[in-house]
Amino acid sequence: QTGMFTYDPGFTSTASCESKITYIDGDEGVLLYRGYPIEQLAEGGDFMETCYLLLNGELPTPAQKAEFDYRISRHTMVHEQMARFYQGFRRDAHPMAVMVACIGALSAFYHDSIDITDPVQRQVATVRIIAKIPTIAAMAYKYNIGQPFMFPKNDLDYTSNFLRMCFGVPCEEYKVNPVLSRALDRIFILHADHEQNASTSTVRLAGSSGANPFACIAAGIACLWGPAHGGANEAALKMLTEIGHVDNIPKFIAKAKDKNDPFRLMGFGHRVYKNYDPRAKLMAKTCHEVLGELGIKDDPLLDVAVELERIALHDDYFIEKKLYPNIDFYSGITLKAMGFPVSMFTVLFALARTVGWIAQWKEMIEDPHQKIGRPRQLYTGEPCRQYVKISSRG
Ligand code: SDX
Repeated sequence: QTGMFTYDPGFTSTASCESKITYIDGDEGVLLYRGYPIEQLAEGGDFMETCYLLLNGELPTPAQKAEFDYRISRHTMVHEQMARFYQGFRRDAHPMAVMVACIGALSAFYHDSIDITDPVQRQVATVRIIAKIPTIAAMAYKYNIGQPFMFPKNDLDYTSNFLRMCFGVPCEEYKVNPVLSRALDRIFILHADHEQNASTSTVRLAGSSGANPFACIAAGIACLWGPAHGGANEAALKMLTEIGHVDNIPKFIAKAKDKNDPFRLMGFGHRVYKNYDPRAKLMAKTCHEVLGELGIKDDPLLDVAVELERIALHDDYFIEKKLYPNIDFYSGITLKAMGFPVSMFTVLFALARTVGWIAQWKEMIEDPHQKIGRPRQLYTGEPCRQYVKISSRG
């Protein structure tokens, strides 16, 4: 039942709800979207097909896919007033801060016009958020680097459009590299949904009160930003850069094992996967494909990552704690090679996860038994006691 919370002795309340969208077997390292293995979806179709599947429960027919692609592409522009929001930020504002603000601002444009109790209008909100998130993300990047915003182009596929809005300039035609576009599209598929992770639970809890779906997605972006969650891809790359050379790995492995040291190996471990994150394997494969396409032979960060993984997978501490690389371990190296700055890594995670968030929001809103989420607590504070006037206190 949505919103039912259970407690474990660690006082870690885990939201439990029923969902038909994503299945994870953490011990076996299995991830299914609507019953389809992530490995097959990542190799078989494109991100738009995965979006359709997550939202509707079935893979689209060719006609349904074409219609979905068309509808999404016709909503990729944002209101011209949205462009003025960016002017209020410093140029060096973290793009995740910009994303939280601008996605939240979208609710101001649609709040009064979308009745979420109407299925047709829910569909409108769903299409608009999926369509506009790449444009808003690309605008955050362009604002950071002081380049003009690029309008979306309707004759490009979703991911190629995003690459052009990021790396294209008005002065010349942008030539999409199909290998890189396909690789990024696969990375979006890998990040699309992941059951009741922290940010999805945030979106569900916010949505359970009937809040505007755009405001709920903004809440999910805020939660994803944390280094223990979606911010780990940025943190993992910073960690690999700090390690710098394979000779320094043992020192960091020792830090990760030291209970008195808050350092953790970023991109390692997972609350659910106690086996290899299936997405990490596909991420590593994509990383090698991208570096190969770009002719990058000796990437010191990749050397450190591969050796760190090799050592950790044979280390008794990590084996006993069941710590394996997760999706964030190789994604940073790949995105950096593609030309994205570290500050954009979690933005790309949020871009891809938006379809998972809105699909889970839609499933919750359409549940006739849905109630507002209301976590309880185990109270560990003072027993009831009498008030003492300040004049009588010591
Ligand atoms: C994502 O939930 C999702 O599905 C999230 C996500 C998604 O798609 O939405 O998969 C995306 O957030 C992936 C995780 C990205 N975060 C990181 O890579 C940050 C580094 N990882 C850790 O912070 C940690 O592994 C977590 C936060 C991911 C999980 O933390 P937990 O639940 O505390 O880990 P655990 O209970 O499995 O830990 C078991 C033990 C603990 O030691 P003890 O208290 O038992 O002595 O392993 C230790 C932890 O201290 N440990 C680590 C470690 N991760 C856990 N020690 C060193 N390095 C690590 N990375």
